[in-house]
Amino acid sequence: MISVVVPTYNEAENIEELVKRLASVFRSDYEVIIVDDNSPDGTADAAKKLSATYPVRVVVRQTRLGLASAVVEGASVARGDVVVVMDADLQHPPELAPALAREAARGCLAVASRYVRGGRVEGWPITRRVVSRGAVLLARLLLPEARRVKDPVSGFFAYRRDCLSRVKPTGLYKILLDVLVQCKPECVVEIPFVFGKRTRGRSKLGRRHIFDYLRQLLALSKWRPVKFAAVGATGIGVALAVLHFLSWLPTLVSTAIAIEVSLTSNYILNRAWTFAERHTPILGGWAKYHLATAIGNSTNYLVTNALAFLGVWIYVAYLIGVAAGYVANYVFSELEVFK
Ligand code: GDD
Ligand code: MN
Repeated sequence: MISVVVPTYNEAENIEELVKRLASVFRSDYEVIIVDDNSPDGTADAAKKLSATYPVRVVVRQTRLGLASAVVEGASVARGDVVVVMDADLQHPPELAPALAREAARGCLAVASRYVRGGRVEGWPITRRVVSRGAVLLARLLLPEARRVKDPVSGFFAYRRDCLSRVKPTGLYKILLDVLVQCKPECVVEIPFVFGKRTRGRSKLGRRHIFDYLRQLLALSKWRPVKFAAVGATGIGVALAVLHFLSWLPTLVSTAIAIEVSLTSNYILNRAWTFAERHTPILGGWAKYHLATAIGNSTNYLVTNALAFLGVWIYVAYLIGVAAGYVANYVFSELEVFK
């Protein structure tokens, strides 16, 4: 038995074609669970009518709680061991659902992907393409689990019900990220698909979802970027103290020592706190941390000394130097040192 879970909000015009096309690809031993957030356009009534002819069940929630929680709620009432999650608006081709279900039945997370060979998006303006690519890039940068797939924000996938029904959504839309992080699937398979144009109704994705998405990434990354910045702030204090005690030395020497000491204290704190669960080998990590921060630290060293040479007060020169080196530092640590 396969359960197809479809979250809906104002999809009355799409639901009939979706259910019919699912019926012709699955034929028997499947069910469709429509989870509607009390759409004003009567989606739930349209779905209930279809349930006279097709194996359709309708869950109606009184308030608009969002796509992600609708998926989990659908999975929690599903009868199948395998759940296929898809949109109602036919941008996800129902014909691909059986292939996803087959992979999920083997125990793998099956993701319909726009960003593997053969997959693509139809009819998106350049702005939405850029936002989507940026969203994927950011997810893969911040979450090792997201690096397992090329399209970790796809809304079309299949997995076992037992985990899907227990997922705690951390955002409104991108439930697949939660599945990747919380279910830790043994294997992942990506199947290319063409994300078609929406022909009826309107997308519910809006500007506020960008902020929701960033919040979700922070939560799933256990606030690592914020912790990393906090550690960096302690490092600045350490370096300024070293500069203070070594003020009798030439600036070229004291800044080098200040940078080395704060680098080491930052490394120790990031290893024990920011990236604690990664169990990085202590000396190997320390060596790599030198490499990873080399660009930031040499920028810092050069900028600080140039400013000091120009007569800028050393502590101020150092703060400007640090700012210049910060961004490159973070990206290298995330991708290389603590991976
Ligand atoms: N129950 C419920 N509650 N359903 C919702 C809500 C809500 O608040 N908001 C949207 N939905 C339903 C829509 O009715 C539709 O069936 C599905 O969720 C996707 O919504 P769209 O508004 O069509 O999203 P999209 O096309 O911009 O984005 C989709 O594709 C992306 C790329 O694959 C989503 O599936 C994204 O999650 C996905 O990343
Ligand atoms: Mn859509």
